[in-house]
Amino acid sequence: MENNELYLIFKNIDEQHKKILDTVNDLKEACTKQEVKEKVIKLIQLLDEYVTEHFRDEEYLAKKIGFIKVEGLKDEHNYFRGIYYELCFHYKYKNNNHNKYYYLFSVYLVQSMIEWLDYHINTLDKELMDFVEAKLKD
Ligand SMILES: [Fe+2]
Ligand SMILES: [Fe+2]
Repeated sequence: MENNELYLIFKNIDEQHKKILDTVNDLKEACTKQEVKEKVIKLIQLLDEYVTEHFRDEEYLAKKIGFIKVEGLKDEHNYFRGIYYELCFHYKYKNNNHNKYYYLFSVYLVQSMIEWLDYHINTLDKELMDFVEAKLKD
């Protein structure tokens, strides 16, 4: 892989992290304020676009440059997807909106995402980024 391409993906991943974190925070606010279902679903879909693109880019990069923990990276991404799908299911198919636990559960799921992201970005993603930086210096 050319250093130029490597640098571009590297920069892009950083931007994607910001977008994902912003969207998850918006989602938490929407769930906490018990915004209308349509608004929350829109944010959930936006998050799906960002996360799908981002995980694909990171996994592609990790594989391309021979990052040793590529399988671990995929496993952790799948864990996030699990929480994400639970939230989708919760919003799309459960209609007990009047139950106060309905919104509490969604806040709980989004909070789990925020905590997961904080952990993942500062551990495995950071290792990947450090590995890329070292490669760029070669
Ligand atoms: Fe990641
Ligand atoms: Fe990431």
